[in-house]
Amino acid sequence: MKNVTLLNGRSVPCMGQGTWYLGDNPSTREEEIKALRTGIESGMTLIDTAEMYGNGRSECLVGEAITSYNREDIFLVSKVLPQNAGKQRMRIACENSLKRLGVDTLDLYLYHWRGSIPLRETVEELEKLKELGMIRDWGVSNLDIDDMEELSKYDKKNHCQVNQVLYHMASRGIEYSLLPWMRKQKIALMSYCPLAQAGSLKRGLFTNKTLNEIAKGHDATVAQILLAWNIRGEGTIAIPRTGKMEHTLENAKATTINLSKEELELIDSIYPAPNHKVWLDMQ
Ligand SMILES: NC(=O)c1ccc[n+]([C@@H]2O[C@H](COP(=O)([O-])OP(=O)(O)OC[C@H]3O[C@@H](n4cnc5c(N)ncnc54)[C@H](OP(=O)(O)O)[C@@H]3O)[C@@H](O)[C@H]2O)c1
Repeated sequence: MKNVTLLNGRSVPCMGQGTWYLGDNPSTREEEIKALRTGIESGMTLIDTAEMYGNGRSECLVGEAITSYNREDIFLVSKVLPQNAGKQRMRIACENSLKRLGVDTLDLYLYHWRGSIPLRETVEELEKLKELGMIRDWGVSNLDIDDMEELSKYDKKNHCQVNQVLYHMASRGIEYSLLPWMRKQKIALMSYCPLAQAGSLKRGLFTNKTLNEIAKGHDATVAQILLAWNIRGEGTIAIPRTGKMEHTLENAKATTINLSKEELELIDSIYPAPNHKVWLDMQ
């Protein structure tokens, strides 16, 4: 699988695994664990979770799924809620995430979205966790270009590794200014909702005639085309979520699909990138 090299020099797969809603339903728990393990064995060793997901249930599920693997073979990402991202609470929030995941350190700890705590304070607290070894590195999520520019004033050592933002074929706002800025700074893009939540964020995406024709040409599914398109650029990691083993295998295989220049142009004609600034899309 193609790798993305982060600013800190670590290599991560371009396709990881999301976990929102996983762990919520006891009746599908075993199937979800199997799906995550299948993903790991297919090279999707980067797993994205958050203290918010199911109030920690997703982290517990991930912890169980990874017990049989060498810790160094997994790249674990979790996120701190805005209200916990300051002096008083970040260390406790991180300790709780580590406990639920059953590990000593996180590979990446992301500030989930911007709240009322000053950004400077959040950066200072993230740096402290890094010094303590509770996290190896940190990044952010849902920050638009103004916030990123402000962040870079406080992140003097260029420690911010990624910005995790919503990005799928029918939501390309970041391509206008945020993504070019991130590429210049070498901050990786971690795309969330790369499948537009199975099309529910954009009606008609999965049934689009052109996309179905492109998929047919690659002996692939539309979901695979959406993922192959998502990771076409440098420094991009997509994190689709599935609780189903067959979908995990499909998602891993999407990394082998190369879309031609003509196919990319066709996609641009049906789902164009905006030619002006639009607000960051969020879920
Ligand atoms: N930072 C943030 O604020 C933020 C916000 C949202 C999400 N995220 C992260 O990003 C991850 C991905 O986003 P998401 O979960 O919202 O949406 P998503 O990955 O775009 O879509 C998930 C949906 O797609 C289906 N699916 C997965 N693989 C498929 C395939 N090959 N064919 C058909 N359907 C497929 C899943 O159902 P099945 O289970 O049936 O496969 C699920 O319903 C999250 O899980 C989370 O880790 C972060």
